[in-house]
Amino acid sequence: MRLSISVPAVMATSLRFGRIVRATGCVSFLRSASVRNHGSVGPAVQRESTSSSSQSEINREIKSFAELQNERQEQAERSVLLTCPQKVSEKSLLKYLSKYGDINNYFFYESFDVCAVVEFSQKNSIAMLQDGTVMPAGKHESCIPFKSRVFTLKINNPDDQANTRQSLPCLKQSAISINELVERISAETTLDEQICTLTKTYELTEENVRLRFLVCSLLQDIAIQYFPNCSVKPFGSSVNGFGKLGCDLDMFLDLDGIKEQNSNKTSEPFSVEYHLKRVPSERAATQNVLTLIGECLDRFVPGCVGVQKILNARCPLVRFSHQPSGFQCDLTANNRIAMKSTEMLYLYGSIDVRVRALVFTVRTWARAHGITSSIPGAWITNFSLTMMVIFFLQKRRHAIIPTLDQLKALADAKDKHIIDGNDCTFVRDINKISVSENTETLGQLLQEFFEFYGNFAFQKMSINIRKGKEQTKPEVSPLHIQNPFEQTLNVSKNVNQTQLERFVSLAREGAWILQQEGMTKASVLGYRPWGLAALLLPSTSDTGNKAKKRRRREGASERIKSLLESLKNSKSDGKNDATSESSGGKRPSLRTK
Ligand code: GTP
Ligand code: MG
Repeated sequence: MRLSISVPAVMATSLRFGRIVRATGCVSFLRSASVRNHGSVGPAVQRESTSSSSQSEINREIKSFAELQNERQEQAERSVLLTCPQKVSEKSLLKYLSKYGDINNYFFYESFDVCAVVEFSQKNSIAMLQDGTVMPAGKHESCIPFKSRVFTLKINNPDDQANTRQSLPCLKQSAISINELVERISAETTLDEQICTLTKTYELTEENVRLRFLVCSLLQDIAIQYFPNCSVKPFGSSVNGFGKLGCDLDMFLDLDGIKEQNSNKTSEPFSVEYHLKRVPSERAATQNVLTLIGECLDRFVPGCVGVQKILNARCPLVRFSHQPSGFQCDLTANNRIAMKSTEMLYLYGSIDVRVRALVFTVRTWARAHGITSSIPGAWITNFSLTMMVIFFLQKRRHAIIPTLDQLKALADAKDKHIIDGNDCTFVRDINKISVSENTETLGQLLQEFFEFYGNFAFQKMSINIRKGKEQTKPEVSPLHIQNPFEQTLNVSKNVNQTQLERFVSLAREGAWILQQEGMTKASVLGYRPWGLAALLLPSTSDTGNKAKKRRRREGASERIKSLLESLKNSKSDGKNDATSESSGGKRPSLRTK
């Protein structure tokens, strides 16, 4: 048997260190969170020394987005997915598979079935495995002979293996519920620790990221049959560092490899072009390509269910569920700007460890209160929320992260990138970005975030991360967040006044809750839930029936009751024009800065 299980990528990649970065608060939590995440998508952070209790130096190595993508894609191309029997001997399973070649890494998880992801050291192991794989015998149904890298493992002689069969050690691929999270973070002793625990609990695991890249690679196997130089890449929260376990898988079918071959060799007497079908626009071409892939998924590919072709959207897509992985997938094509904004968010998340932690916290808080939703509508999206956190961090007295224009000024010729006439240039080498002098803790930042947006002049001003300054709104949408690359667009155009008001009202309430005594540190009196846990509880603004029923069932603690009472009685400070009429005087007054 040749079985060589490598050092996990997480550890291997954290052995090389880069520049020194300042961080504050629960550094050890951030460190372990970030190291774990590095195997997946985020920056690696290694603590070096602690110069004071409030400020520590950490040494960090960060891979560029492109490096990480290439590494992961290559890893996925050497991997297979197997559905396994409920009980099987792990040892004999690995022994059997290793006859096709060395195994670098493997893990088990449970989705619809118990599944295994197996990464071979060499790509040719997969061809050998495929050669030795048989078609299933269908007695009553006919099968479509579609061969892929998804296999079903059958036990040939169940009696022989009866003694050694066991439940496989499955790793969870979903996030714990908000109630479990509240319980977990209530046991922490500081608000900073709560925030770090939330981040560690919800961030994508190494295995989950591997699975995401593998699903993209499986789709690429299909698309490549028609478009030989294409690739399928993940984008959005699967790879920008802000993904929560269970988030959707956004994929981008990149056909540019095909266009790249269009170089004219003018020194030759002739040149030969492919004879191609012409369609009226690039959009029509994208729609045709997605129609074809959508049909393939629907008709031939096992485990791809609920395929919807949403071709008239601003960005046409194919949406489906991938049962073996459990992912809800969105496949787009010709969506290079979204890929670039993913890279930008990855960079921002890598600059300072507080960025990811704050984004995770704000996203979780927003989801807990129904500010965001998985259903499309007039809600604020996670993408818009992330932009709001970035803007807020740019606006600190000592900015924690640079503006997009500053990142552009640091770019060199290699970073230059124009997409459809939009300048998407920014520096990609993180070592060129100076470390912020800001030493605020995560707890302080969370409180300030709520105060900042509780008072923001949404009615008149637009959020602009390119300039790092609010600017006069160019249009009447309730919430205006300038698209960083297509600057005439508003990424939050979908948000209506009611949803914006809910956000502002809840932000004010959040600021007020954190100002209360005992809300940033666990009290010896043992008030629970406190701090972040209290922020995640249903609020006065959660007026939906579900929240009402839940409150009735649970019964509020005395502290929460009095807190709600205070909220009702306190008066709005009226700073925010956009919300002053509709909040019915329920908002708490804010500490003046
Ligand atoms: P979750 O899926 O909610 O975890 O976050 P996400 O960041 O993946 O958001 P989503 O799936 O909605 O979108 C995927 C990516 O598309 C985002 O990360 C952005 O890069 C991009 N995107 C989403 N919405 C917009 C938008 O309104 N404007 C622009 N320019 N890009 C967007
Ligand atoms: Mg997404």
